[in-house]
Amino acid sequence: MAVTPGLRRAIELLACPACSSALSLDESSATCPDGHRFDVARQGYLNLLGGPQPANADTPAMIAARGRVHDTGVFAPLRELLGRVCAGRARILEVGSGTGAYLQAALGEAPGSVGVAMDISTAAARGAAKLDPRIAAVVADVWQRFPLADAGLDAVLAIFAPRNFAEFSRVLAPSGQLVVITPEPDHLIELRNTHQLLGLHPQKAASVAAHAKDDFELIDRLRHRSTFAADAALVADLISMGPNAFHELPETVEATELTVSVTVQVFGRR
Ligand SMILES: C[S@@+](CC[C@H](N)C(=O)[O-])C[C@H]1O[C@@H](n2cnc3c(N)ncnc32)[C@H](O)[C@@H]1O
Ligand SMILES: [Zn+2]
Repeated sequence: MAVTPGLRRAIELLACPACSSALSLDESSATCPDGHRFDVARQGYLNLLGGPQPANADTPAMIAARGRVHDTGVFAPLRELLGRVCAGRARILEVGSGTGAYLQAALGEAPGSVGVAMDISTAAARGAAKLDPRIAAVVADVWQRFPLADAGLDAVLAIFAPRNFAEFSRVLAPSGQLVVITPEPDHLIELRNTHQLLGLHPQKAASVAAHAKDDFELIDRLRHRSTFAADAALVADLISMGPNAFHELPETVEATELTVSVTVQVFGRR
């Protein structure tokens, strides 16, 4: 695989990271009129990072664990919720997209839609590139100017991912919406209690809204809470897919009932 159907669809939404001009695709690379050229990886993603991947990017092991967790369907209620929130929005960017599972849900069943999965991890991009023919996988840093044209998107998603509100606002069409999902303190609380995992910000959703307010107004805020039974393998994957994977992992894990608890905030551009 080189250039994917998703990249062909999304190329008009992308922009050269060096000069912000439009990009066009040939058989194996993307180029701009100024002659900047970016090779499409053999695995079908486009690396527009322009430098080495930083140390905090998700590792292949974390991405594999996250993929297995999504495959079990335990986050299916959240995926369904996203599908409803993004219904009718045809051009969607997910930043910090990981495996792209939420982006795919946000695209729904619409065959003509297009998704851009942006992540700083090449392992993530490899997964997203093969997930869905409507999705283009791009390696880029959320803290730099996004390699995306102005005002080209109907929705941007930031799901358990870093947020750059000025760039979100620049790449969204005037009627576009930003969807941010953040964990509540009781999200996977059973794991945090048993395995002394990293804690969560007590007022994350409110803090996100406060940081967004120069660029965005809050349109809707939804709470989602559900529980599921996790066997030991799933528990191990849930621990390994997150930031705790950068610390020491517990030696033994047991099956348990787990809580999903998040806030979904929908913002419109000011
Ligand atoms: C907690 S994961 C969430 C993945 C996905 N949204 C999900 O919920 O399944 C956070 C993701 O953000 C990515 N990430 C971290 N820092 C980033 C940055 N500066 N720019 C782009 N992506 C970043 C990580 O590589 C990782 O895939
Ligand atoms: Zn250029």
